[in-house]
Amino acid sequence: TLAAAAPVMAQGFPTKPVTMIVPFAAGGPTDVVARALAESMRKSLGQTVVVENVGGAGGTIGTARVAHAKNDGYTVLLMHIGFSTAPALYRKLSYNQATDFQPIGLTVEVPMTMIGRDNFPANNVKEFLAYAKANADKLSMANAGIGSASHLCGLMFLSTLGANIQTVPYNGTAPAMNDLLGKHVDFMCDQTTNTTGQIKAGKVKAYAVTSMSRLPSFPDLPTLNESGMKDFTVGIWHGLWAPKGTSPEIVAKLESSLKAGLTDPAFKKHMADLGAIVLDDKATPAALDSLVKSETAKWGAVIKKAGVYAD
Ligand code: MLT
Repeated sequence: TLAAAAPVMAQGFPTKPVTMIVPFAAGGPTDVVARALAESMRKSLGQTVVVENVGGAGGTIGTARVAHAKNDGYTVLLMHIGFSTAPALYRKLSYNQATDFQPIGLTVEVPMTMIGRDNFPANNVKEFLAYAKANADKLSMANAGIGSASHLCGLMFLSTLGANIQTVPYNGTAPAMNDLLGKHVDFMCDQTTNTTGQIKAGKVKAYAVTSMSRLPSFPDLPTLNESGMKDFTVGIWHGLWAPKGTSPEIVAKLESSLKAGLTDPAFKKHMADLGAIVLDDKATPAALDSLVKSETAKWGAVIKKAGVYAD
């Protein structure tokens, strides 16, 4: 029997540039992953992938943009763990996380580092924890808005520290880093895709990592887990989505291009240099879908217990 002709819109997809929405400011960790992936996917798609930064509300504004975009394969979302925490944090989301998206696959997982301004009066994680606890009312912690990875890490940090510290939200941790370098804010928990360069250049003080084990790129940085903050482990996974209803042929094309992009040597080296772990073996709709379901349940319980809401 003749194979059914692919629906017209799938034939030759893509025939024009694809837009990849990044729900945070340019230059931050999510943007770094997106631009590297856009370049490596361009090769297998045969079209440019244009990165568009749509910031605000911890990434939920950019996420909503894709939820409501045409499902023709020409608009995709690169978002991280915040995709799974937003439903618990935002009671009035303008999209339905469970029904408005078509998962394409996981991309990378990125560890986080606890960093302070370069003149912060603590020289190791023990002093940092003691100082933060003793001076909580005088300190400020930056994040990328409620729902961001830096917000989630900060939430876990403050609840295990047993202190409350003023938090300063930005549209991404790129602008947050600028204020940290300018000493307008005291510390933040941010991904190695944004902090590696500044730590190596000595422009910020690094105290600990949030990964289960120490990072090859920073062997002297202890994990928060080994520093007494039991079970403080968070790795920031990033996924790629299209709007719900995108045709299976186009999803398959995006999935195969994602896999090619993740295994591209230049992409792999770039990610390794920044401490990011490439998840090419999980670059499938099913792997992303099942992780979103388990993470949404897990973080929903943590957030409910913390009693934190954005709206
Ligand atoms: C986050 O904290 O969610 C990200 O670092 C935000 C960003 O990519 O700027």
